[in-house]
Amino acid sequence: MDKKTYYITTPIYYPSAKLHIGNTYTTVAADALARFKRLTGYDVMFLTGTDEHGQKIQRLAEAKGITPIAYVDEIVAGIKDLWKMMNVSYDKFIRTTDDYHIKAVQDIFKRLYDQGDIYKDSYEGWYCTPCESFWTETQLVNGNCPDCGRPVEKAKEEAYFFKMSKYADRLIEYIENHPEFIQPESRKNEMLNNFLKPGLQDLCVSRTSFNWGIPVTFDEKHVIYVWIDALANYITALGYGNENNDLYNKYWPADVHLVGKDILRFHTIYWPIMLMALDIPLPKQVFGHGWLLVDGGKMSKSKGNVVDPVVLVNHFGADAVRYYLLREIPFGADGLFNNEIFIKKINSDLANDLGNLLSRTCAMIEKYFDGTIPAPTAKESIDDELINLALETPKKVEERIDNLRIPEALDTIWELIGRANKYIDETTPWILAKEESKKERLGTVLYNLAEAIRFASVCISAFLPETSEKINRQLNADVTTWNSLASFDGTQAGNKVNKGELLFPRIDVEEKIAELNKLKEEQMAAVKKVEIQPIKDEITIEDFEKVDLRVVKVIECEPVKGAKKLLKLKVDLGGEERQVVSGIAKYYKPEDLIGKYVVLVANLKPVTLRGELSQGMILAASTDDDSKLFTVSIPGELPTGSIVR
Ligand code: MSP
Repeated sequence: MDKKTYYITTPIYYPSAKLHIGNTYTTVAADALARFKRLTGYDVMFLTGTDEHGQKIQRLAEAKGITPIAYVDEIVAGIKDLWKMMNVSYDKFIRTTDDYHIKAVQDIFKRLYDQGDIYKDSYEGWYCTPCESFWTETQLVNGNCPDCGRPVEKAKEEAYFFKMSKYADRLIEYIENHPEFIQPESRKNEMLNNFLKPGLQDLCVSRTSFNWGIPVTFDEKHVIYVWIDALANYITALGYGNENNDLYNKYWPADVHLVGKDILRFHTIYWPIMLMALDIPLPKQVFGHGWLLVDGGKMSKSKGNVVDPVVLVNHFGADAVRYYLLREIPFGADGLFNNEIFIKKINSDLANDLGNLLSRTCAMIEKYFDGTIPAPTAKESIDDELINLALETPKKVEERIDNLRIPEALDTIWELIGRANKYIDETTPWILAKEESKKERLGTVLYNLAEAIRFASVCISAFLPETSEKINRQLNADVTTWNSLASFDGTQAGNKVNKGELLFPRIDVEEKIAELNKLKEEQMAAVKKVEIQPIKDEITIEDFEKVDLRVVKVIECEPVKGAKKLLKLKVDLGGEERQVVSGIAKYYKPEDLIGKYVVLVANLKPVTLRGELSQGMILAASTDDDSKLFTVSIPGELPTGSIVR
């Protein structure tokens, strides 16, 4: 029989900055669910990716003097590294700049236009560039963007619109008849009462004021604006709209889209309407989780309270971070990230409860049985409670995961861990060890402990995969399937334990917090500290005019052989071509510079560098320690040779 499928998605992230612990939260939760479903026999498709178009990205790239794709490539590589670090086991990573996605989105747009669901009109409103959102006058808060609080600009432009209102009644009926569709329940009511029932406005789905987006095939000055491009990823990633759509046929409709509460509206209103218009079944569930807050409220760069998951993983390991996110944050509600609570949880739940249970059990097997796991030959009724709890645990965990109650699933596993610790106190193996006649009983107690830990290890493997592997290695547990948890006998007597390092060494809370605070201060100081060099002696305008600065376009660029730091550029200076050698190889790849408009000191006396003639100098700005450098570039097209003054 074919396996049951399970298709789970995370939002696709904006590659506009490094991801923080809040973004990490969604993906880690999705990963735990995906791993759990694989463990329990499902054929899983776990999708994540990046949402790469839009004006904000275009502006950030311009500010850096590179192309948008070069800009996003770098950030996407960092995002993939982060997922690797967090052990995120995605099956597919979609980028909205992928060719197959672009083609499918263009076809979807055209189809919606042809069937009359999209029409052309003009849009006037208040636009927030960082959020890429238009707002009406009444939505503004103190005249600013209601989402991010930053200033908005009045904007009017020709645009295509999606007739949302046409499908609103059908969607209301669908939501009311499918109570499981929007979760948690409270969010369903918010969507219905605050957005759908008051009446839906048509959605603006194209832009002409920037071009970093998917072009509308039949009207090229428009790019498809954000939500159609972004939301379609959930089907284009499976091959919808392309020749090979086997994955689409296999996995769609999605079992669950996991999203933050801020984007629930797009996923439970715009997305289902798009799907209805395309005659595609709706996803089975959209789950809107809460917001991860820090002590000062929301994380923001300006407050300097952004929690960097990379720092946490470097200090505490991926599983400690995963554990905190999955167990401590109520799934569906807002939760707090706080270093002190985090470290205390590591000490109590991971180092104490779980880590000590394993190390004590392995140590006793080594001490009393030379490291060989004994057979359970002398059972007593006191064992039943532990054994029965172990046998009930997998089912309970599964039920809770099926209802997306992740912290409660972990509570269940920790009940078993707690029970096993209590069993040590009850059976007092160190007293049994004193009498030779109790050897078999001692062996049974230790077997039961090893087996209970194996149960816990299999159960936590979806949540704390590295820890589970470490436990299995130390216990030499070779049977680790979910089905093996149907009976309490999967541990092989006769196997040797390999007592290894402590799973989670205890952390000195105050010392560690001081260390983290110091690190944060250093990071903040490094960002703020710009050594201002003394200003040079005054010059007159005539002095300045001696320097002939010109706009040039880079037409060729290659490394200088044998000189790691140098690039050789051919630049167009108003019809004349010049060769310039520049020490910027550490900061730019040749292909990043080709096509760029930069500033040349055109009347600088030529020099020969490493045997190459350099006719002028490209202007650039750098940090004192040369760790960062950017060329001075012209953020648009000017005739080459234009004077810079
Ligand atoms: N690109 C859109 C999603 C398109 S999906 C078709 C987007 N990207 S995002 O990078 O801004 O956000 C990605 C996810 O991170 C969202 O689900 C958002 O809710 C989540 N979070 C951002 N900050 C968060 C917290 N502080 N806490 C929890 N989740 C947070 O939105």
